[in-house]
Amino acid sequence: MKLDIPTLSICLSCRDGREEFYMSRGGRRFAKKLLNKISLKKHFNLRGVNCMSNCKRACTISLTAKKSFTYVFGDIDPENSEYSESLIELVSRYSSSSEGFLRRRDRPLLFQSSILGRLPPIQCNSEIVTNLNNGFPDD
Ligand code: FES
Repeated sequence: MKLDIPTLSICLSCRDGREEFYMSRGGRRFAKKLLNKISLKKHFNLRGVNCMSNCKRACTISLTAKKSFTYVFGDIDPENSEYSESLIELVSRYSSSSEGFLRRRDRPLLFQSSILGRLPPIQCNSEIVTNLNNGFPDD
């Protein structure tokens, strides 16, 4: 795993309700579709996770990188190729932004409403983060 590029995690256990038809879980099918896109591999590490504790809004993915914000997305439709195509744009914008910070309008359309969480890195310069170890700065 390369540490200088983002890591995309995909929940392999996620169900999308079409398991019987495809004989495979939705998360696993989405991962396979990404693996078939050779061009994606140079942009990020890809790893599978067995349950990311977001089962009710499957399929689930997360995007993270060293010293960068971490994002969790849900409601991914593995059979909609626009998701895999938009991912490369999402990762590109993520990689070129300061600390990986992306506002809603900075993300591709499919990844605007499907966001579940945005977590800052431990060491962070973002203005949206306030260190409260010594109380509120303006108190
Ligand atoms: S099975 Fe995918 S988040 Fe739980």
